Amino acid sequence: MPKWLDNAVFYEIYPQSFMDSNGDGIGDIRGIVQRLDHVRSLGCNAIWLNPCFDSPFLDAGYDVSDYKRVAERYGSVEELAYLFEEVHRRDMHILLDLVPGHTSMEHEWFLKSCSAERNEYSDRYIWTDSIWESPEGMGCVRGFFERDGSCAVNFFTHQPALNYGFAHPERPWQMKPDAPAPLATREAIKDVMRFWLDKGCDGFRVDMAGSLVKNDPDGSANIAFWQDFRAFLDREYPDAVLISEWGEPDKSLAGGFHMDFLLHFGPSHYNDLFRCEEPFFSRRGKGTAEAFVRTYTENYAGTGGSGLICIPSGNHDMDRMRRFLDPEEMKLAFTFLLTMPGAPFIYYGDELGMRYVEGLTSKEGGYGRTGSRTPMQWDDSPNAGFSTAAPEKLYLPIDPSPDRPTAENQLLSRDTLMREVKRLTALRSEHKALQSRGKVKFVTSGYPLVYLRTEDREDGERIAVMINPSERTYSLPKQLNGSVLYSVGKGVPHLTHDEQKLVMPPESAAVILL
Ligand code: GLC
Ligand code: CA
Repeated sequence: MPKWLDNAVFYEIYPQSFMDSNGDGIGDIRGIVQRLDHVRSLGCNAIWLNPCFDSPFLDAGYDVSDYKRVAERYGSVEELAYLFEEVHRRDMHILLDLVPGHTSMEHEWFLKSCSAERNEYSDRYIWTDSIWESPEGMGCVRGFFERDGSCAVNFFTHQPALNYGFAHPERPWQMKPDAPAPLATREAIKDVMRFWLDKGCDGFRVDMAGSLVKNDPDGSANIAFWQDFRAFLDREYPDAVLISEWGEPDKSLAGGFHMDFLLHFGPSHYNDLFRCEEPFFSRRGKGTAEAFVRTYTENYAGTGGSGLICIPSGNHDMDRMRRFLDPEEMKLAFTFLLTMPGAPFIYYGDELGMRYVEGLTSKEGGYGRTGSRTPMQWDDSPNAGFSTAAPEKLYLPIDPSPDRPTAENQLLSRDTLMREVKRLTALRSEHKALQSRGKVKFVTSGYPLVYLRTEDREDGERIAVMINPSERTYSLPKQLNGSVLYSVGKGVPHLTHDEQKLVMPPESAAVILL
């Protein structure tokens, strides 16, 4: 595993909403370069950039029409390569978003694939043999083309599924993963990866990584699939990093991914903590972390104890945390995020406590996700410093709240969320036990939440993290007392007069060296 991942803290940039450098109302690559110092100043040393490739933008760029071109609205391949340089100059790394599962219907491969005449691309996508047969268990697009067949889709109906074969083919048109056409699709994606790695990116966050080979209930065919990619990278680009949107680290790490995401859907219980009626991190104290801790611990064991599971503060697909938690509660949530193993991911603006903007009309296939995709709030100048365009020209409106947070006012005021984020990333960088590969062991899974982080060697540091989001005071075993490395909230843990217990004050968190 590349060394830099040991202490990576990622920042996710949604390019259309980060910084507009040329006043057309849409964020762009030059804008990102202008604001790299903000990212660095947070203590983030790595970036995940959402898709920035040619696209009709029916799914905000997750519908790629040319993997090797940068969408004009963002800039050019040269500018993206320049961004890589500027990132590296600051001792940071950057992952692009690889969307290998499907393309846009406008992709040249798909246009050729739709032709009635057989050609090199006829089997690049999953097609049934006849328009009257639709692929079982999947959506499809059909009736638009001269070709007699239905094409399987992955997400929206305009996202035809690339053909990597079926683990257990059941119909004549379903191919084995090692049939020539699925192998050719693989090679085409490797070629895309080569293209960007040669330009200087450090690797990829891989979209829908666990479901490329179809009908693969135990995941073994997808694991084998990615092992082949890892072998290719080890041969040609040994330092290239892969992080998966898979949500099953036992499988994705076996496939050669360095880390896997906790997902906001599926069985992880991630949202029990941040996004539900009674989130664990709410001061109401009615939530529960039990199911989360249970599944996390199982997953953790599944990683062979390496714990390389990335926990995001949010992303472009889910409601902003701020919709459920206020900035004080978010300080405790960030204490958790930034003291867990794996690499934490901060979604742009979450470090300020940016709001989910209610009531927006869907933009580029965002639907309910649109409110989490509004422009970054930099300062109090027009359009919050995001763009010089007229407000109605902006990609999405700025959060209209009069008290919206900005990077500038968070920097100038005391006790802000952004300041805590910086303190926490600094703390993390000073203690190996708190970094990616430090071990974790949960002591409790209720209020207060307590876990131990330890270095992976005998005489290494032992650190306790205790977080009490609730309004109640608790007492803990005195063995958890030690020197306070970090504390936030309404009080600092302290021993009772008789020194028999450690008092955990309400709405507070602490990181303690044992
Ligand atoms: C992933 C992306 C999401 C996109 C979907 C289809 O889940 O994060 O934004 O819509 O894949 O590509
Ligand atoms: Ca622009």
